[in-house]
Amino acid sequence: MANILHLDSSPRRDRSRSRQLSREFIKKWQDIHPEDVITYRDLRTSIIPHVTEKWIAADYTPLSEQTPEMSQILQLSNELVDEFLASDRCIFGVPMYNFSVPSAFKAYIDQIVRVGRTFAIKDGHFEGLVKDKKIVFITARGDRYSTGSTHEGWDAQEPSLRYAFQFIGVTDIQFIHAEGLDLGSQSREQGFSAARSEIQQLVGNW
Ligand SMILES: Cc1cc2nc3c(=O)[nH]c(=O)nc-3n(C[C@H](O)[C@H](O)[C@H](O)COP(=O)(O)O)c2cc1C
Repeated sequence: MANILHLDSSPRRDRSRSRQLSREFIKKWQDIHPEDVITYRDLRTSIIPHVTEKWIAADYTPLSEQTPEMSQILQLSNELVDEFLASDRCIFGVPMYNFSVPSAFKAYIDQIVRVGRTFAIKDGHFEGLVKDKKIVFITARGDRYSTGSTHEGWDAQEPSLRYAFQFIGVTDIQFIHAEGLDLGSQSREQGFSAARSEIQQLVGNW
């Protein structure tokens, strides 16, 4: 039995393509692994605040020296870190916004990249503390970024996600991109179809 964290970050509900595809992934996964426990977090309804000056001060104060106010400030972050660390596998549905991620997902990253909890500073180096976790990002994009497309090389989303999660120690990171979804119905169908084939393949070999 594995713990699965399923998280969606589109502000859209029924119209969201990243949600639709992450849901399809989970459905297929549950068909094969009915014993797995799924935890669902929806950043549309579970609002993640930006970090603040007080939050940063609390984050960098050792646990033994934290005041009750600091513990209170870090409470949600601690819950998010606990939830993330408790999972064996994560399925994250993430739209592309302005070549990167929506601010809700960036806020989530800022809350779980925590000194002493998900990374450490040792002997003048940063060290990721997260072990044995697999992540798949299912992204939805209006345009295309593959080789030969107009905006080839403009994808700042995949690298920024890869760096943030590698930084905290995750080594097994996969991406399924549904691309060209806002370029007409034919392009959208192609984008969905390619993403669905990748989902089908990954679910059986993950
Ligand atoms: C605020 C905003 C910014 C966007 N920026 C980009 C972008 O930089 N590149 C892109 O390919 N599509 C962009 N799009 C299109 C979305 O990525 C696309 O519609 C996707 O399906 C959104 O995910 P969702 O359907 O899960 O909500 C943007 C859409 C919005 C609303």
